[in-house]
Amino acid sequence: MISESARSFDRQWADLAEIGRHPHTGGYRRYALTREDHDLREWFAGEAAGRGLEVITDRVGNQWAWWGDPDTTPGVVTGSHLDSVPDGGAYDGPLGVISAFVALDRLRAEGLVPQRPLGIVNFADEEGARFGIACAGSRVLTGALTPGRALGLRDGDGISMAEGLRAAGRDPEWLGPDPEALRRVGAFVELHVEQGRGLIDLDQPVALGTDIWPHGRWRLDFPGEANHAGTTRLEDRRDAMIGLATTVLAARSAAADHGCVATVGKTRLTPGGVNAIPSAATGWLDARGADESAVRRTVGEVTASATAWGAEVTEESWTPTTRFDLELLARLRRVLPAAPLLGTGAGHDAGILATAGIPTGMIFVRNPTGVSHSPAEHAERADCLAGVAALADVLTELVGERP
Ligand code: GLV
Ligand code: MN
Ligand code: MN
Repeated sequence: MISESARSFDRQWADLAEIGRHPHTGGYRRYALTREDHDLREWFAGEAAGRGLEVITDRVGNQWAWWGDPDTTPGVVTGSHLDSVPDGGAYDGPLGVISAFVALDRLRAEGLVPQRPLGIVNFADEEGARFGIACAGSRVLTGALTPGRALGLRDGDGISMAEGLRAAGRDPEWLGPDPEALRRVGAFVELHVEQGRGLIDLDQPVALGTDIWPHGRWRLDFPGEANHAGTTRLEDRRDAMIGLATTVLAARSAAADHGCVATVGKTRLTPGGVNAIPSAATGWLDARGADESAVRRTVGEVTASATAWGAEVTEESWTPTTRFDLELLARLRRVLPAAPLLGTGAGHDAGILATAGIPTGMIFVRNPTGVSHSPAEHAERADCLAGVAALADVLTELVGERP
């Protein structure tokens, strides 16, 4: 027999399935302040309204659906994000939001009497796919990213976040840190699909998060000179692409030498003609690792390679090692004694909130492909429902008493 949780999970999953799904790649393109983002936010508001939850939108645009009044007592918050990377998978973000609604339904069906408010959050712009800075919603919320800097970020078409906000009918002047919204959060637990192979190897459906690797993004701008691809002798060229290509290889070998990972997954060539030598080349480096100083050494070597080609290197974001709250983790372990502990190289809003001093934890759900940020990302339905059950048990421990 299909359970109420499974029914609700399936229905919500089907609601979101087509929003922002690219017909050819099958991946999701759900970027901040677009039509897709609007539709996802409307969906979130509808789910909240259907449950009689009050939605508070903070000064950044993060949506908080509350069961109970968080202005009397700070609440326990769960949830995640609904935006995606370019051609992302269905699970990264939405699994945490949908699981949150299903877990809340389950607590209510079981007659739980909450002793503190319970909130479900949809963080804005977690992936930074459009404006470049990941976790922009939680960073501005906590003050880790200033509104001045955020508003000036530009997308690939040169549209600034300020212009994007205006086009979405929002007032850019309103964007800013929101200590009041943050004060409502007594603790945060984010459920997320696992983005590696940890749970496959451990043969478990869910794990508890311990820490997030230090990570950051750097923009590498290489100069060049436009000229004809057929008539310009090799020795007369200043080809911006050569510097970028060499530096991409330097990043790969520096990462290998220092036990880190480094990726250049986005580039922009100017003017971008097949038969024109690039007059400028920009690449974005993403570098991470378990050890902060090793990541810094990796980036140092990449910077040395880039500057030797005349490039400018700009740090766009940096997140130091994040360790989740040990006391909260101990409570979660008592609730889920079989769940293994996992660290992760992926960034999350949970990390930003933890850095802001909020007791924070994470629950990971097994991903049988081990693949993420790709349409191949997956989680079996049974594991998703195990995740819901784990989250419901954790929330029961944190917010309430059974009758
Ligand atoms: C977010 O998913 C990141 O780790 O880049
Ligand atoms: Mn992601
Ligand atoms: Mn995510």
